[in-house]
Amino acid sequence: MSTSTFPAGRKKITTSTVRDKKIRGEIITMLTAYDYPTAAIMDRAGIDMILVGDSVGMVVLGYDTTLSVTMEDMLHHCKAVARGAKSALLIGDMPFMSYQTSVDDAVRNAGRFLQEAGMDAIKLEGGRDRKPAIEAIISAGIPVQGHLGLTPQSVHQFGGFRAQGKTVSAAKRILEDAMILQEAGCFSIVLEAIPWQLAKLISAQLEIPTIGIGAGVECDGQVLVSHDMLGLCDRFTPKFAKKFTHLQNEIETAVTNYKSDVENKIFPASSNSFKMTDEEWNSLLAAIAPKVTAHSVTRL
Ligand code: KIV
Repeated sequence: MSTSTFPAGRKKITTSTVRDKKIRGEIITMLTAYDYPTAAIMDRAGIDMILVGDSVGMVVLGYDTTLSVTMEDMLHHCKAVARGAKSALLIGDMPFMSYQTSVDDAVRNAGRFLQEAGMDAIKLEGGRDRKPAIEAIISAGIPVQGHLGLTPQSVHQFGGFRAQGKTVSAAKRILEDAMILQEAGCFSIVLEAIPWQLAKLISAQLEIPTIGIGAGVECDGQVLVSHDMLGLCDRFTPKFAKKFTHLQNEIETAVTNYKSDVENKIFPASSNSFKMTDEEWNSLLAAIAPKVTAHSVTRL
C-alpha cells in the first residue's frame, strides 16, 4: 500500500505496530472519534489508534447508556472517521446485540466494519463467554480488541457505571479473562475502571498490549472518550477522565457572539458578502424600475 496519503512522516499503524510498541516499552495512545474532522485532527496529532466507540450513543446521540446504539449507527460514524484518518489503526466498536446473539451474527457484523466502513479491526466487550465469537471473528481475518472491567453494555448487570475488580475473586476473574482473550487471539485489551494494581499485574502478565481507561498509569497505553477529554460533555464526566480543554465553554462563547453579531447586523460584514459590479447593478435597477414599489426604492 502507498504511504503517500498519510500525514508527513507517518506510516499506517497496524496491530503489529502496537505490539512492537509494547515490546519496546513505548506507550500506545488511543482516543475515540465519531466524525471526519475530529479523526483528521487526531491522525495529524499522531494518535496510534482511533476507536469509533459505541460511547457515540451517550456523547453524540444523547442516550443514557450505550445499549440503544445500532449497527447502522456505528457504520455511519465509522465511515466518517475512515474518511478523516489515514494513518491511525481504526477500530470499530461492536454494539450491544451485534455479537452476543450467535457466533454467526458476530462474524457477519464484525465483517461489515471492515467491508463497508473502512475499519481495520473491531472491539467487543466481555471475557470467557465471548471466546467462541472472538475466535471465529479472528479466523475470518479480522483483528479483535477485547474489553474487560467496566464493560458499559453490562451496565444493568453491574447496577450502574462502577469500578470493577476490587475484590480478590473479581480481580482473579478479570485476570483469567485477560489470559483467555489473549489465548483466543486478541491483539490488545481495553481495561476499564479497574484498580491500577490489577491493571499493572495484567499488563505484566500479557504479551499483548493493555489499553487503560480508569485503570492507572501502568497499562501499555491509554484511551479516553474524546468528548470527555475535550470538555464537550454537559453531562456526567467520569472521575478518571481528565479534561485537556473546555470546548463546551468555547463553543458557548462563539455561539453567543454569533447571535449578538447577527442581531446587531455586524455579521455578515462586506468581506463575507458577494458584490455585483455597479454596471450590472444599475442595469438591473433600470430593468426592474417600473415594477419597484415606493417602499422598496427607499430600502435600496
Ligand atoms: O465506547 C467507547 O468509547 C469505549 C471506550 C470507553 C474504551 O469502549
